Amino acid sequence: MKKKLTLGLFGFGCVGQGLYRVLQETKGLQTEIRRICILNPEKSRSLPAELFTTSREALLDDPEIDVIVELINDPDKALDIVRGAVNRGKDVVTANKRMLAEHLDEILALQKATGRSILYEAAVCGSIPIIRNLEEYYDNDSLSRIEGIFNGSTNYILTRIDEERLSFDEALKAAQDLGFAELDPSLDVEGFDPTFKLSILIAHAFGKRIPPEDILRIGIGKLSPSDLSYARKNNLKIKLVAGAYSTGETITALVAPKFVRDNHALFPIRNEFNAVVVEGSFAEEQLFVGKGAGGNPTGAAVLSDIAALRYGYRYEYRKWQENTKDVSSEPIIEVSVGFENPNLVSFEDFIAFYGGERVGKMNRMWGSVSWQTLRLWAETNGISVVLSPEALPAVRTRLTIAEQALV
Ligand code: HSE
Repeated sequence: MKKKLTLGLFGFGCVGQGLYRVLQETKGLQTEIRRICILNPEKSRSLPAELFTTSREALLDDPEIDVIVELINDPDKALDIVRGAVNRGKDVVTANKRMLAEHLDEILALQKATGRSILYEAAVCGSIPIIRNLEEYYDNDSLSRIEGIFNGSTNYILTRIDEERLSFDEALKAAQDLGFAELDPSLDVEGFDPTFKLSILIAHAFGKRIPPEDILRIGIGKLSPSDLSYARKNNLKIKLVAGAYSTGETITALVAPKFVRDNHALFPIRNEFNAVVVEGSFAEEQLFVGKGAGGNPTGAAVLSDIAALRYGYRYEYRKWQENTKDVSSEPIIEVSVGFENPNLVSFEDFIAFYGGERVGKMNRMWGSVSWQTLRLWAETNGISVVLSPEALPAVRTRLTIAEQALV
């Protein structure tokens, strides 16, 4: 049965204010924000002062509040708030992807132990309802791939550099001014943020626990002007692609810049838009697109979770398997690698060598490398790695080759 909900809100930044706005404009929801807990009482606010408090207990101990909405930045404090809320019999809506990705086992255990619901659609790809779809629609389909653009800021930066020739710093500043970037923008630029989101989606899509540190991560910070001009000359786009590819047993999971061709689903995804490609054995390939960052789109996802709580909605984690990691480090990945110093990259690193070129001071090589080499290059300064358009799903390509061999 639908019920009226009273909310306690932690955080009144970009998303908190977005939620407030969308709540104001949503008629008939029967939901009110009773108190807002903030960090800095000195900041001038657009709402009456009595709505705000700096006391966490003022919300957690208020028996009138039945849902805690957690929209703060600090993942440790966020986890503490979630624990405090469910242990006091309150449901939770949170957008804290880092907290969720790093503590997903505890988040599941807390829900099981307390019977409360913790919903977090807004934590992954902003306004795209991907978690709810994985939970409800794809719960019986065995998925082979989940791949996409999971970070609005880097997609915005890459778009503006490509289309308007902005410098990296100008584009990053614009993403910050629009409220897309994290407080620490290196979480976006270095690809941490999409690894958090990918880790969460892997749990819902494949039922496996792959913590963010097990996901191979290459950000956009080391991209070179030569990568960008190569893309332009060849009608390619560079996208920061997050992907998880399943064999049914193991998962290959990585976040890395990739050259995409104009026939790829991610090619037209511009600015702060995110996209998720889901590939299942029955439904085959499907594409979800929507704004992945910004106060209103993310606030709308929070609102949707709040509305779902009125019906007692909870995630079932139907595919969840205890104690599995099953991350694969076998794949051979096709890449373009750019470097100035030839000592950093050698022919021996390539499993198959396809070719090379020199643009100004930059050397570029194309070829296939092992997972271990890719991990090493990801951590080496002076090397920029971009996955080739054919790079993945490697798992599927290898299966195809094996199948061909059998015929
Ligand atoms: N900094 C994040 C992004 C915000 O740019 O996608 C939304 O999670």
